[in-house]
Amino acid sequence: MNKEKVIQTTVTAHIENFGKEPEAAAWAPGRIEVLGNHTDYNDGTVLSAAINLGHCFCISRSSRPGIHLLAVDVNQIAAFDTANMEKVPGFSWANYIKGVFHFIQEHLGEKIDGLDCTFLGSIPMGAGLSSSAALEVAAATAVLKILDATIDQKEIARLCRRAEHLFAGTNCGLLDQFSSLFGRDHGLIHSDFRTLEVSPVQLPADIEFLVVNPHVKHSLADSPYNERRERCEQAAAQLAELLPHPVTALRDVSPEEFETHRSRIAAGAAKRAAHIVGEIDRVERGVELIRQGDLTAFGALLFQSHQSSIENFENSCPELDIVVEAAREAGAPGARLSGGGFGGSAIVMVRADQAQTISEKITALCKARGIVPEILAVTPSAGAQIIQ
Ligand code: GLA
Repeated sequence: MNKEKVIQTTVTAHIENFGKEPEAAAWAPGRIEVLGNHTDYNDGTVLSAAINLGHCFCISRSSRPGIHLLAVDVNQIAAFDTANMEKVPGFSWANYIKGVFHFIQEHLGEKIDGLDCTFLGSIPMGAGLSSSAALEVAAATAVLKILDATIDQKEIARLCRRAEHLFAGTNCGLLDQFSSLFGRDHGLIHSDFRTLEVSPVQLPADIEFLVVNPHVKHSLADSPYNERRERCEQAAAQLAELLPHPVTALRDVSPEEFETHRSRIAAGAAKRAAHIVGEIDRVERGVELIRQGDLTAFGALLFQSHQSSIENFENSCPELDIVVEAAREAGAPGARLSGGGFGGSAIVMVRADQAQTISEKITALCKARGIVPEILAVTPSAGAQIIQ
């Protein structure tokens, strides 16, 4: 379903269920992580893009107390109060919204109550495209509109992340929310998660990304995501003892310093840190290569990133490795797992005129190796917006 259709369907469902036109509506996109894996919570940098798939969130005021929230795809309404932090029984998807409303309410010091809400999205669940962050950002954008309130966008990202931490149990960084808020049409964004600066990185207009989903079960909450984060923090603390300058995160360790000292820190933590230090370096080299128009060399960094996921971070899986290898054999300039890993999707960078051929080749190569992937072509797109 394209964006216009998603918006139209959400508005129609809202009117049918609540008997009222929405007074506020917002769209927020999912994201692909193009380069910079697990670097966000290490104070590092990432190249990412918002995509042309996302969530629409509509709201109107109601005289009934509480929040009534319709999920159009499952045709169910959850009801909750934003005052407490209890999970909404039976409706796990409603917790993201409850979390967002709760933290916005706390931030504004203004009760959020008496709202009818409806949402629908086009992002496949579990594909690693940050469906939950898109939903959070769409809900935040729409509720601020109806409250006629403003919160700095970086603070909105933080509030949404708190909802994710507390209600979904994943100690994620800010990448997903930043990408959904700050995405650019036909471009990547370079986010620095230490300074929180975001800058656009223009891509040639004919670059697309294929999202190749081998359908491996993906849930960051059950994955070793939080454990990986702890290992990174442990590595940073150990390196801080060895280096002459302050180290508060792996961002502070250069590839040279890491190579000099890696044998003196715990072996398990060193492997994880090798990935992060290498990724941050690849992101910075990648930005330069895009600026020089060298997409072949940029693509090679994507393959290197995937190899480091296999060897160092151990967040890939055999199915994703098959997809990335198939992409290489099909002639794509670059491919890697995108997002948390442990399942989810791989992204493949392609020129638009090659997308169809490369996609068919990947499918054939994957089928010959026992997996049937789902492939979606996505384009880098603008970030969250108020529709009305
Ligand atoms: C998930 C998290 C992000 C980020 C990526 C890995 O998408 O939500 O914060 O850590 O994994 O780069």
